[in-house]
Amino acid sequence: KSIEKFIEGIPKTELHLHIEGTFEPELMFEIAKRNQKKIPYNSVAELKNAYKFNNLQEFLDIYYAGANVLITEQDFYDLTWAYLTKVHEQNVVHVEIFFDPQTHTDRGIPFDTVIKGIRSALEDGKSKLGITYKLIMSFLRHLDEASAFKTLEQALPYKDWISAVGLDSSEVGNPPSKFERVFAKSIEEGFLTVAHAGEEGPAEYIWEALDLLKIVRIDHGNRCLDDAKLVDRLVDLQMPLTLCPLSNLELKVVQDLKEHPIAEMMKKNLLVTVNSDDPAYFGGYMNENYLGIAKALDLSKEQIATLVKNSFTASWLTDQEKEMRI
Ligand code: ADE
Ligand code: ZN
Repeated sequence: KSIEKFIEGIPKTELHLHIEGTFEPELMFEIAKRNQKKIPYNSVAELKNAYKFNNLQEFLDIYYAGANVLITEQDFYDLTWAYLTKVHEQNVVHVEIFFDPQTHTDRGIPFDTVIKGIRSALEDGKSKLGITYKLIMSFLRHLDEASAFKTLEQALPYKDWISAVGLDSSEVGNPPSKFERVFAKSIEEGFLTVAHAGEEGPAEYIWEALDLLKIVRIDHGNRCLDDAKLVDRLVDLQMPLTLCPLSNLELKVVQDLKEHPIAEMMKKNLLVTVNSDDPAYFGGYMNENYLGIAKALDLSKEQIATLVKNSFTASWLTDQEKEMRI
């Protein structure tokens, strides 16, 4: 069996995905049209051509602009449903996905419009496609603490629909410590916590995410390799890292997939996983991410199987649910 077929066939889980990052240009044009919103590009091809990034911020500027055309509950449903049907074809059976409420509430879209649209699609995904899910509400770290507190307040009526809070957007200059109190309150309210750390930011931000935000999973975490003590700690804890190879390549976190740290991390016994981050912008969903590293790093089927198994281990499925799926 070829490595392609092996990757396609194995049931997978995705643990690091921004639903706003699955907004494919074709759907963006369709939704913009029905909402009578303008996109500053004349065609799908022109828009796709703008997807060339030198760093995280250049991507975020385009990603937030794209999200501006999402207005109604139906829009959020359609966005989420398109993602689920896409990954269903790729044999993804469980997803733990982020949404960024502030990207929408700051434009006057009600919190409940956003979450209801996403949630109904996830429920349909469960009943019609057999894809189980968890939802993670992510705070935008370039905004202030007060805005994050306000968002947490808005989420409380939907507590049962949200498993965890996260932290994303512009990393450098916005350390985890900025949100220590919001995360403490989130934990009090019963949420798990995760955070993007060590994507562009230093290893120090990973320490802060562990010690101050009490995270149960690190999103990205590439830069942990700069700090041997930190690696020891992460190995000891068997703390999951959600790596995103094609995202790292497109945002110039790595210059070439051949330099991607995932193989070295596996050797060090870190609990690493493969994810797609913002597939509509980075040129690939789950299978393309696995295949990208498999080829660049010459991974064996056994190593691929270990990565897939790691994702189930790192997921928030119950032990019984994991056993049924691994
Ligand atoms: N928001 C969406 N994708 C992101 C990423 N890779 N890093 C930080 N914030 C994000
Ligand atoms: Zn991300």
